[in-house]
Amino acid sequence: MQIHNLSETPSILNTFISEIRDKDIQKDSMRFRRNIERIGEILGYELSKTLDFMNHSTTTPLGKSETLLPKSDVVLCSILRAGVPLHNGLLNYFDAAENAFISAYRQHKQNPASFEIVVEYLACPSLEDKTLILADPMLATGQSMVATFEALKPFGTPKEIHLVSVIGAQDGIDYVAQNFNSKTHLWIASVDKVLNNKGYIIPGLGDAGDLAFGIKLQQ
Ligand code: URA
Repeated sequence: MQIHNLSETPSILNTFISEIRDKDIQKDSMRFRRNIERIGEILGYELSKTLDFMNHSTTTPLGKSETLLPKSDVVLCSILRAGVPLHNGLLNYFDAAENAFISAYRQHKQNPASFEIVVEYLACPSLEDKTLILADPMLATGQSMVATFEALKPFGTPKEIHLVSVIGAQDGIDYVAQNFNSKTHLWIASVDKVLNNKGYIIPGLGDAGDLAFGIKLQQ
């Protein structure tokens, strides 16, 4: 897997990452969502540099301008619900992308440290020969990303796969790397070292879904 950790090069991206981690700024859920969206825009812009391009001629009022435009058919797939703001950020830049949504959640067993990923809802167009961008804001254990990829397999074989994440833990990145081929790209805004015994990224930011959309009742 080809890993692109964007915070290795300091940039304005660090401002957005710092704000989504900050427990006081997190109280403003609109700002939290918008910052995740802005991070999605930056990750999308960076990954766009690796896509295939084609010549395009634009007629201006004064002449012709030759340029290269992306030619890939892009499918954006996100995991509900935390993935929605990241999805919106990517969709802000990939105007013509098709979209897929999947619900994947952790079903905890009696021991809170142990859980399995349950996939239920899935809506997906054909992925055959397309560019699949799979977005999951928190790459903790990596199990949701891998379970999602397994669930998408009946929809066709993508030409290329880009994984997009905001914050990841090294263990999750290693797990994902074992389960995707070496041509897969991972675009990630920041990498933390550890997971706690409940599978949360430390220092991370907490629960991205709750911060974006409010606390849910556990059932
Ligand atoms: N999901 C989150 O929202 N946060 C984590 O730290 C891990 C998974």
